[in-house]
Amino acid sequence: MKKQFLILALLPLALARLEASDSPINAYSRQSLSLNGKWNVIIDPYETGFYDYRYQPYDQSPAPSMSAFFMDHRPADKSELVEYSFDRSSTLMVPGDWNSQSEKLFYYEGSVWYRRLFDIKPSQPGNRLFVYFGGANYEADVYLNGEKLGRHVGGFTPFSYEITNAVRPAGNSLIVKVDNKRHREGVPTLNTDWWNYGGLTRDVMILEVPGTFITDYCVQQEKGSLDRVSGYVRLDGARKVQKGRVEIPELGTTVGFTTDQEGFARFDFALAKAQLWSPENPRLYNVAISCETDRTSEKVGFRTIEVKGTEILLNGRPIFLRGICLHEENPLRGGRARSAEDSRMLLGWARELDCNFLRLAHYPHNESMARIADEMGLLLWEEIPVYWTIQWDNPQTLDNAKSQLSELIGRDKNRASVICWSVANETPVSGPRTAFLKQLIGLARDLDPTRLVSAAMEVHADPADAKTFVVDDPLNEATDLTSFNEYIGWYVGVPDLCAQVRWVIKSQKPVLITEFGADALQGLHGDAQTRFTEEFQEDLYRKNLQMLSKIPQLRGTTPWILVDFRSPKRTLPGIQDGWNRKGLIGENGTKKKAFYLLRQYYEAKAAAP
Ligand code: GCU
Repeated sequence: MKKQFLILALLPLALARLEASDSPINAYSRQSLSLNGKWNVIIDPYETGFYDYRYQPYDQSPAPSMSAFFMDHRPADKSELVEYSFDRSSTLMVPGDWNSQSEKLFYYEGSVWYRRLFDIKPSQPGNRLFVYFGGANYEADVYLNGEKLGRHVGGFTPFSYEITNAVRPAGNSLIVKVDNKRHREGVPTLNTDWWNYGGLTRDVMILEVPGTFITDYCVQQEKGSLDRVSGYVRLDGARKVQKGRVEIPELGTTVGFTTDQEGFARFDFALAKAQLWSPENPRLYNVAISCETDRTSEKVGFRTIEVKGTEILLNGRPIFLRGICLHEENPLRGGRARSAEDSRMLLGWARELDCNFLRLAHYPHNESMARIADEMGLLLWEEIPVYWTIQWDNPQTLDNAKSQLSELIGRDKNRASVICWSVANETPVSGPRTAFLKQLIGLARDLDPTRLVSAAMEVHADPADAKTFVVDDPLNEATDLTSFNEYIGWYVGVPDLCAQVRWVIKSQKPVLITEFGADALQGLHGDAQTRFTEEFQEDLYRKNLQMLSKIPQLRGTTPWILVDFRSPKRTLPGIQDGWNRKGLIGENGTKKKAFYLLRQYYEAKAAAP
């Protein structure tokens, strides 16, 4: 009787913890304990550790059975029946996808339980602790010492839970069930042309912050203004009303603010004599935000991005986006790219191509990508995985897409490199689809009025004339760019068709070609008519660039794709073998002929935009 009463009393507390708090911004600047490294894992395709034999979830019961893997239970004595043990289980590295770490998990789609033991004591009395995940694909159920902290859905954005009252000084057991199964109602849905890498694919750490801390802020140049910054700060904790300031020491700028009853304050100020951030001059300034109980700082670049008629203006001047698409994969090591070194290698290849822009496809890449792009002076298009045929009329699917978009913007809104949020890729035109996407565009504009918003749209041939291609997606009225994918010469005809193509583009906006390309196996040579040879790919690039250059409002291209990437849809033996071969660089890092052709085109563009 007594035990039940106690559990019932605890219930509201436990439930309150189920909501993932907004992840503290600028997490990597915080005092933290990294939980990266080896984690014990249990591969659980039947989810035996989650459901009882009646398929009832253990974590829905107020007194979960010890058979639930998240209880991390060890037999009290030799007579007690316990049929799992993390202590005796194998390990996987975190961060890392499981597919590239173990041959038997290469194609695995299902649940894997991760467990990490740790000791921690707040360094200051009154400080708070959060467990922070940079990303886990796709669904993550998180438990600490047998208690459910929450569930996060979406494989590519950060999430965190407060654990201040749930930790003990030593022997904490953090358990995460990660499930990368694909779902019809998911974002993405069942069908994608990339590898469904599962696991704790990004950093995991315990963040320590003061009792009342700066959980969110934005410091961005006002849209269209070359010399004004506006922003806000939000505090989380008991002491909501505080005095604070924004400091930019290198500019001698200090601006005060006072947070209100909600812990919120807005500020704006003149950006005196700052060098504006651009690819030619990626000038970053140290910006510190402080209040009476907390202080955080990071490097920020100041620039404006906007569209005027058919021009894209960076800091008020027209720019041509010399771009390339990229998946978040390190082909040399295999698996998801996950570290600053991976980002530097991939962005370095784009730099060698003389790019000033990348389209990070088709989902948010790890945080280091945008931070290093800030340093290197590379502009970015960031996208959420609303890809192909999403369930447009499913409200949960819309909520899922909205939360992924909010988490992405929440994480990267202070990155100068990021100039465009993309809400979708190659989605078939329909009323429900356009309404769905317009909601996402509206949300992006509400969350961040300073950047461009768009989507990778599609073209269709004129039914009356197969050589006329029409761009008339109704979504375009809501986007800043007329950005679309075209595969003339690969999925549509042969490269010679390019010379005969007529474009009908029903918009007066800047045109960005977000994909074109062809598969080529690196090292396979032949005549330019033979598919999958480097010569065919090179020829297709030459003819597409000639065709596209005739579009008067062409303001950029991001061909598909910088480097070959894994896809379960690509099975052609001896050529694809599980790889999409549209890279300009092979999986071994060797450049293909088309790489040099595109670089030449970009060098010419850079010389005479
Ligand atoms: C599509 C899609 C990509 C895909 C590419 C291809 O357009 O957006 O995700 O990989 O085409 O077919 O290679």
